[in-house]
Amino acid sequence: MTESKLWGGRFSQPTDAFVEEFTASIQFDQRLYRYDILGSQVHARMLAKQGIIAHNDAETIVEGLQEILTEIEAGAFEFSISREDIHMNIEARLIEKIGATGGRLHTARSRNDQVALDVRLYLRDEVDAIHTAIGRLIAALLEQAAGNLDVIMPGYTHLQTAQPVLFAHHMLAYVEMFSRDAGRLRDLRKRLNLLPLGAGALAGTTFPIDREWVAEQLDFDGVTRNSLDSVSDRDFAIEFGSFSSLLMMHLSRLSEELILWSSADFAFIDLSDAFCTGSSIMPQKKNPDVPELVRGKTGRVYGNLISLLTLMKSLPLAYNKDMQEDKEPLFDTIDTVRGSLKVFAEMISEMQVKPQAMRQAAGRGYSTATDIADYLVRKGLPFRNAHEVVGKTVRYCVETGKDIPELSLDEFRQFSTDIEADIFDFVTLEASVNARRATGGTARSSVEGEISLARNRLQTDFS
Ligand code: ARG
Repeated sequence: MTESKLWGGRFSQPTDAFVEEFTASIQFDQRLYRYDILGSQVHARMLAKQGIIAHNDAETIVEGLQEILTEIEAGAFEFSISREDIHMNIEARLIEKIGATGGRLHTARSRNDQVALDVRLYLRDEVDAIHTAIGRLIAALLEQAAGNLDVIMPGYTHLQTAQPVLFAHHMLAYVEMFSRDAGRLRDLRKRLNLLPLGAGALAGTTFPIDREWVAEQLDFDGVTRNSLDSVSDRDFAIEFGSFSSLLMMHLSRLSEELILWSSADFAFIDLSDAFCTGSSIMPQKKNPDVPELVRGKTGRVYGNLISLLTLMKSLPLAYNKDMQEDKEPLFDTIDTVRGSLKVFAEMISEMQVKPQAMRQAAGRGYSTATDIADYLVRKGLPFRNAHEVVGKTVRYCVETGKDIPELSLDEFRQFSTDIEADIFDFVTLEASVNARRATGGTARSSVEGEISLARNRLQTDFS
């Protein structure tokens, strides 16, 4: 049995049952209920303030909506497909509860500006929660950095041992990435935080509404400036999808490293058992499921971004029903990003670092070769010649099975008589790391400075 529609006046036949289900969005847009109610309450008060509806009608509406909020939160609200979406589910219930007065709420408003408002309000809260979650992850990375300042690990290019770096320096690289992500989020929030309500269906409204007052009540920074644009763009959702894709890209890189590092071959870290699972057949296994899943979920977040971009491509102004399809990709992205950040902050803070294994690996692979070349340059050799000398030295090491710090002075001097006894001060891991003192380098003094700068930023940007 289908009840009559809020928009049923023009229609002579009932909606086909399947079409009703096909066109409905209540299955997924019910998560907007709180924002829909809040927006409607402020709208009703504004209508009364402007003399568009009576004050006591507005109060009845506000109270009715408040009761509906309680019903929904208590799980006592029956969402109905035949009422299509969250807006009409709530409005129809309001009319059911308070009668004809409820029918005054939708004055000077359309579902087109209403849904634009609801999604902006909802996304704004999610943006703030995600911003806080990024702050937690950054704090966890900083803790790991500060707590492991003596740990030296191999730095890689092409996943081949390149130069030794501080483990803390490696953690700080991710602090930079996630700090930029947080900056992008703060930036998109400014464009998101404008009130679209008042655009009506597309052209504005004939009633003397006060958009600025509504904006203030709802903590918006201002109002949107064009009614057609207000109801017909979803670029704020796409910006969020783009921010999310970059964030997930960064998380997927950290995931990949955690997966490698926790393997028996690297054995650089131990992930807490809470973030791993066993194998049903191989008793020895401890699989890094959480980073693997986050790495995998990156794909769906990229997919959601492409869905949103494609959804909006070539749509004529203004509202089109296509745009109802913005919600599932947006919601899925929000859920995925929130979940990924939550597990990551915990996993990083519980991660155990294995300094010995990292140090051993850092010593392999002739990681201080560049330091010998730099040494020769300081003795006056052009860098290219120095590179050649060290290349030969490394070949000698490979052939004799020795590591650079194990060579005797005579062995060094076979390749250049510019090499003197002080070479041994330059080829240790500590010397190699600490020689890189320019801003942004891996020297312990620089890294300590960057940790305190990052801690200050954490205070100012995430408080
Ligand atoms: N459920 C709709 C959506 O999400 C609300 C707006 C409907 N507007 C309309 N003119 N049919 O887009």
